[in-house]
Amino acid sequence: MHDFRSGLQRRWPALLPYLCRMEQLLQQIESYRKEMEDYQATDQAAVENFRIKYLGTKGIVKTIMGEMRNVPADKKKELGLIVNDFKLFAENKYESLKATSNEQPTSINHPDLSLPGDLLTPGSRHPVTLMKNRIVSIFRRLGFAVAEGPEIEDDWHNFGALNLPEHHPARDMQDTFYVQQNPDWVLRTHTSNVQIREMEKGKLPIRLVMPGRVYRNETISARSHCFFHQVEGLYIDENVSFADLKQTLYFFVKEMYGKDVKVRFRPSYFPFTEPSAEMDVSCFICGGVGCNICKKTGWVEILGCGMVHPNVLENCNIDPNKYTGFAFGMGVERPAMLKYGINDIRLFSENDVRFLKQFTGAI
Ligand code: DAH
Repeated sequence: MHDFRSGLQRRWPALLPYLCRMEQLLQQIESYRKEMEDYQATDQAAVENFRIKYLGTKGIVKTIMGEMRNVPADKKKELGLIVNDFKLFAENKYESLKATSNEQPTSINHPDLSLPGDLLTPGSRHPVTLMKNRIVSIFRRLGFAVAEGPEIEDDWHNFGALNLPEHHPARDMQDTFYVQQNPDWVLRTHTSNVQIREMEKGKLPIRLVMPGRVYRNETISARSHCFFHQVEGLYIDENVSFADLKQTLYFFVKEMYGKDVKVRFRPSYFPFTEPSAEMDVSCFICGGVGCNICKKTGWVEILGCGMVHPNVLENCNIDPNKYTGFAFGMGVERPAMLKYGINDIRLFSENDVRFLKQFTGAI
């Protein structure tokens, strides 16, 4: 403020026509500030009077701001700061008056207790959350901890470190969305990026499940969507074998689908595991006889898995001669659709209360 004045004084002759008005303005601001400082409000009406007087559409703050029009261009910035500060002061004072006057015992704080209460409609967990929690809780009982990672990911963590170099044909299956400001950023296509982020931390052994949302450039239909959810698993230690992988997944299937469900592993290919497999369970809808859900095969595909590829371990500075590990990844929407009899994946993200409220009480 003082800078502003001394600046004016230096250029006195040129600014003479404005000076008186501006000096007056500064004095006004100062005295309104004092006035506000001393303002007390014992009830809501006084608070409202304060608001109208200082912050109303024809109030003091607006009027003073209107004066900015008459200020020479090279002084606008300096005076602008002062006026802005004045406005903030008024707003803060109003907030604090409001808060303290609310504490006063007025009739507003004494509701009529004889009135009937407002009905609280119970909410429900989203079916995707329900299924994700189910999956995660089974692995937690086996000693797996939970980790999460970013949905906007760089190329290295989503592809490169997972043994999917640029131009590798396996990238075709996971086309995604790119971030315009930085072509190196993608919306992650799978939760496998969290494997890399956790291994990079360099703390072994690792025994984790990693739930989260993933994205693919897919045409939206009843069966597929451009975003969905996965749960990834990772176990790295000395002497981890394929037998450990199978035993862990057997336990999962029995807990999830019951002890009579059969399991089969089919050899498959993922760049980040070697060997790789896909795991099917006998169709829990028809009991393996053949139905629409299992496309008359008697089997339903549940997840992809395998032994972590040595290149992936090396990419994360883990010695593949000392450590081995297994990994798996499964979708959440499909098992949720099967469990709750949902026939269209789009229902999950349409936010229709009629759909969501059917899960009240579901676990
Ligand atoms: N990331 C794979 C996908 O989205 C799923 C997957 C397969 C994850 C095998 C794994 C794994 O960790 O070992 O299709």
